Amino acid sequence: MRILAIETSCDETAAAVIENGRHIISNVVSSQIQLHKRYGGVVPEVASRAHCESIYPVALQAMENIGFDDIDAIAATNTPGLIGALLTGLSFAKGLAYSLGKPLIPVNHITGHIASLYLSADLKPPFLALVISGGHTSIVEVKDYTVFRIIGRTRDDAVGECFDKCARALGFPYPGGIYIDKAAAEFADTTKISLTKPKVDGAEYDFSFSGLKTSVLNLINNSKMQNNVINVNEIAFALQNTIAEILTQKMLKYAKMSGYDMIALAGGVSANTGIRKAFSKMCERENLKLYLPKPQFCGDNAAMIGAQAYYNFQAGITADLNLNAYASANF
Ligand code: KG4
Ligand code: ZN
Repeated sequence: MRILAIETSCDETAAAVIENGRHIISNVVSSQIQLHKRYGGVVPEVASRAHCESIYPVALQAMENIGFDDIDAIAATNTPGLIGALLTGLSFAKGLAYSLGKPLIPVNHITGHIASLYLSADLKPPFLALVISGGHTSIVEVKDYTVFRIIGRTRDDAVGECFDKCARALGFPYPGGIYIDKAAAEFADTTKISLTKPKVDGAEYDFSFSGLKTSVLNLINNSKMQNNVINVNEIAFALQNTIAEILTQKMLKYAKMSGYDMIALAGGVSANTGIRKAFSKMCERENLKLYLPKPQFCGDNAAMIGAQAYYNFQAGITADLNLNAYASANF
């Protein structure tokens, strides 16, 4: 079964053709980062307009070597994300599904990130996933391809947001996660910087990253006020290590408690080398099997949406033209 998938939930316009959930026929991603860079973050209206301009050429490119007759269904991300951005891709997908007379498959973006693992490894549910991106930080039990249970989520900033806001304070462009990663790799020493690891009372698997972000911002401001030289690489190293510790500790605790022995990371932040290393070490030590997405599937893309759409279709999850987009949604 071949699915044309569309993804426009944030600042990437993407289209892909995926066969049977695991085989990539085409995968096109057009990033808007250059448009948003000057504002230091994604401007929703700018994103919607750019999706409108890009969606047709991006979809055409994904369909370059394949006819519409060879497509069995159309899929689109309909939640969560920026509402205007989501509506652009969803409306395009609805129009295509209607005109071609093919089924329409809705996909939740977070489940799409989880499905990026099916494009990267021979992984099958059940497993325990950690979705870490610019908008999400969630521990998810993947009981089956379309059966999920959220165990913990962030109460404030997502982990990618924390990376990006700290990176901005350190003078890096948007999105700054990758610059923190690179700067941290430059620091080959032990650090005396100790950052807070906020806890959420009564919810041991939930996350809170705004306190960590504030402690980094205070550290930078205090150093500036005292005219101390800031060691950007050291702060990046301390931040990355603290985040890696928070993530590994919570995942290990839940894995031990629940008995899951397969752990997977997904989402833009799962590209982070420090976090990958920390999970590899932890999983080796604890005898857990670790699955990581290939770098090209960490950030937003439509291939992962096509992968999840295949399993949604198998489970009978399709929609009619009344399908709407939702900025936030549970699954
Ligand atoms: O999954 P994604 O592309 O979009 C969302 O669904 O949010 O994730 C984007 C996030 C940004 O916050 C970006 O800074 C972060 O992923 N990111 C990284 C790295 N590469 C991307 N964060 C830390 N280290 C990286 N290497
Ligand atoms: Zn994403």
